[in-house]
Amino acid sequence: MSSHPLLYLSRADVESVAPDMPTIIASLEAAFREKGAGRVEMPPKPGIHPGPDAFIHAMPAYIPALHAAGMKWVSGFPANPARGLPYISGLLILNDDETGLPLCVMDCTWITAYRTGAATALSAKYLARPESESVGILACGVQGRTNLEALAALFPIRRVRAYDIVPAARERYAAEMSAKLGVEVVPVDAPRDAVVESDIVVTSGPILKQPTPTIEPGWLQPGAFGSAVDFDSYWQPAALAELDHISTDDLAQFHYYRAVGYFQATPDPHSDLGELVSGAKAARTGASDRTLAMNLGLALDDMAVAPEIYRRALDAGRGTSLDL
Ligand SMILES: NC(=O)c1ccc[n+]([C@@H]2O[C@H](COP(=O)([O-])OP(=O)(O)OC[C@H]3O[C@@H](n4cnc5c(N)ncnc54)[C@H](O)[C@@H]3O)[C@@H](O)[C@H]2O)c1
Repeated sequence: MSSHPLLYLSRADVESVAPDMPTIIASLEAAFREKGAGRVEMPPKPGIHPGPDAFIHAMPAYIPALHAAGMKWVSGFPANPARGLPYISGLLILNDDETGLPLCVMDCTWITAYRTGAATALSAKYLARPESESVGILACGVQGRTNLEALAALFPIRRVRAYDIVPAARERYAAEMSAKLGVEVVPVDAPRDAVVESDIVVTSGPILKQPTPTIEPGWLQPGAFGSAVDFDSYWQPAALAELDHISTDDLAQFHYYRAVGYFQATPDPHSDLGELVSGAKAARTGASDRTLAMNLGLALDDMAVAPEIYRRALDAGRGTSLDL
């Protein structure tokens, strides 16, 4: 039997061939169209939980139309930043969908950061007003950055209000993101100030099983869209109850999370993103609707993007070839 080459891509390798945000959003849209048509395989993510609010999840998915098959093994450890380590880390394995052989193992930090931002923008394409120009960001970490970058790829963003519980983090964010995107980014001292005047609001703080949420009813304005990247940790149940449309990325996974203790006070979503992209469910119906995406983060998102990274790395001669 001949040996089979496996390509290993470090984080730097992945970043050196990374596609731009519009390409990532388009890849996700193609994948969610397949999902809406019932043509993907994606079991709910099993996980292990080695510490309080810490997880390591297995995330397999197969998208036949994209020949994308594989699995991400990703951890989130809330105590890591205090240790000087990243909160999110992990690996992604891409398999050949004809032979099952592993083709590539890659660091999954970049893909997790960018596909999550792209999922917010894709939800916003269907649920936000197209002329949305102001954004509130609550929690100025990795997701606060990639979510804003993705929204700026689809919407005419002019003003951003950024809140973080750590004042230095929101100051850093404002300086960095205004320089990167060429928009006004203002750090604000109170969460409310990032919500009440924004067309689009992204919350990206810690995910907590038993949250003490901050955003009150009446803060999200009529016509605005929210993206809760941190599940329901930031949104009071009464604030969720006044929304006209709540969407998630996968209803089965939403109910799975609820069964293990999350989303105890969150209403059932009206739609999933596959249904919005495929047109099976109507998206925003009026200019004054309040809408929200509560995307959980799917293996589908990762598999939508990973084959493109692999192809680009092969073309560019990046990575380390290993024998199986
Ligand atoms: N839904 C998804 O698909 C998905 C995917 C990836 C990450 N996440 C979640 O997104 C969240 C952010 O991840 P990240 O990689 O950006 O983390 P990060 O560590 O880079 O950033 C977190 C930021 O939140 C700030 N923060 C903490 N508590 C806060 C509060 N109460 N209010 C405002 N700011 C607060 C911190 O100071 C930090 O700046 C995590 O909860 C993670 O699990 C969700």
